[in-house]
Amino acid sequence: MTSSRSSWKSNIGFLLASIGSAIGLGNVWRFSYMAHQHGGGAFLVPYIVALIVAGVPIMILEYGLGHHEKASSPLSFTRVNKSFEWLGWWMPVVAMFGIMLYYSVIIGWCVNYLFYSFSLAWGDDPQGFFFNQFLQLSDSAASLGGIRIPILFTTLLVWVACWLICFRDIRHGIERASVIFMPVLFLLTIIIVGWSLSLDGAPDAIFNHYLHADWQKINFLAHDPATRIAAGKVWAAAFGQIFFTLSLGFGIMITYASYLPKKTDIAKNAFITCLVNCLYSVVAGLAVFGIVGFMAQSQGVPFAEAIKGGPQLAFVVYPKAISLLPKMNTLFGIIFFLMLVIAGLTSGVSLIEAFTCSLTDKFDWPRKKVATVLCIIGFLGSIIFTTRSGLFLLDIADHFITNYGLVCGGLLECIVVGWILKATVLRRHINRHGIGVPKLWNFFIRYTTPAILIVLLFISLSGDLSANYGGYPTDQLFIYGVGWMLICFIVALVLAFQSWKSDKLKRRHKPGEDELLV
Ligand code: TRP
Repeated sequence: MTSSRSSWKSNIGFLLASIGSAIGLGNVWRFSYMAHQHGGGAFLVPYIVALIVAGVPIMILEYGLGHHEKASSPLSFTRVNKSFEWLGWWMPVVAMFGIMLYYSVIIGWCVNYLFYSFSLAWGDDPQGFFFNQFLQLSDSAASLGGIRIPILFTTLLVWVACWLICFRDIRHGIERASVIFMPVLFLLTIIIVGWSLSLDGAPDAIFNHYLHADWQKINFLAHDPATRIAAGKVWAAAFGQIFFTLSLGFGIMITYASYLPKKTDIAKNAFITCLVNCLYSVVAGLAVFGIVGFMAQSQGVPFAEAIKGGPQLAFVVYPKAISLLPKMNTLFGIIFFLMLVIAGLTSGVSLIEAFTCSLTDKFDWPRKKVATVLCIIGFLGSIIFTTRSGLFLLDIADHFITNYGLVCGGLLECIVVGWILKATVLRRHINRHGIGVPKLWNFFIRYTTPAILIVLLFISLSGDLSANYGGYPTDQLFIYGVGWMLICFIVALVLAFQSWKSDKLKRRHKPGEDELLV
């Protein structure tokens, strides 16, 4: 029953856990390669616009909804309107099977690299090491080519760590872990950023490549259609990144807010989470661009040649730079990869929590068993990304799930809350305590944000239809097969959870009801 629902010990514990969920590999690994791929500093503009028009309003919405309904995402949407329970399942299911499976493998890579840092195992050729020795990448995405045992092993470690944290209730598991991990993470980041900025060549790279905007790249009103289409893709990527980095559309923030006490400053918590997360990304970007600048200078090559695009940025460029450092290379490597591991773990556990809570909210299943089974299934599902074509597969999964799965989830939640629950009702609830949100928020949730997201979905779709993403071969049945299987699996699971009858649901009273009458 609701009274037995676990709760945060303190607001700061909640904030650290939410920020822990938001700050993840996405802030260092994904943000920096997105920024590089989409025009360096120019990317910051759509990123900040996306933060303002979608990030902050939807964060307030998710916190508000979870707090209002005191429930995880499926139960929250059921309470808004029975026919939208599926949307509540869509979010954690997509996040778990579309993102977490590969995300845990990348945390695993970081653990491998953490160990490699001790001996700088990548030697003089980090690129060759990463592709040929570490991943042993197969020739194409279509041939799996066997499992990489070292990666499988570290992926298992990651799942065990997640399980150990999620096994206990929120207060003794995630909150305790966040209170320890987050300050450590901030400290490690400060060290890395300070260190990177002090290197020769860093300021030059930061001013000339990171903070230097190429406006043409984001000019979606350009006359030339090619420029326009390219700019559209940059905007779509920025919105996708905002959803990914703020953990929106995963059902996580709804669940986390459901554990908050009645008197809570929802709006302030939402602002703080968004601000800290995005500042973290921008600051971490300084370190990435700084170190690439250092590398370019010490090797005497132009910046554009030194930086690598794509998911391998952290695993090729960083190791190379670490080897070039004049002193304490091993220490730098350990701190950098440890930082990534901690950032990744605090995000991973948040999703397992959201999924676990969704299941325990609906069924009378014991929490510990649910968390255990989820972690086992998660590990088994991750195995496909530990194969020799893992890098291709995760790149494809990431692109489609983030740009469609999360964005669609965000769009639908705006519509359901804005029009069915009514934005005013939720705003009134949010404004009971604390700084509150202006009326403009209603307008954003009902009109502005959904309209922009719809346009972006079209842009992404037309981009992907006109050119196959990443140049991956589309004629191979395998990629289509895996893609379609994943989509069918997700849809089937969502429908199964939704139609599965549960007595527990009927027995529960709705805590928000009495408040609505006021
Ligand atoms: N916000 C995270 C990041 O920027 C992404 C994330 C949050 C995530 N929760 C997750 C990814 C759960 C996978 C599973 O990295």
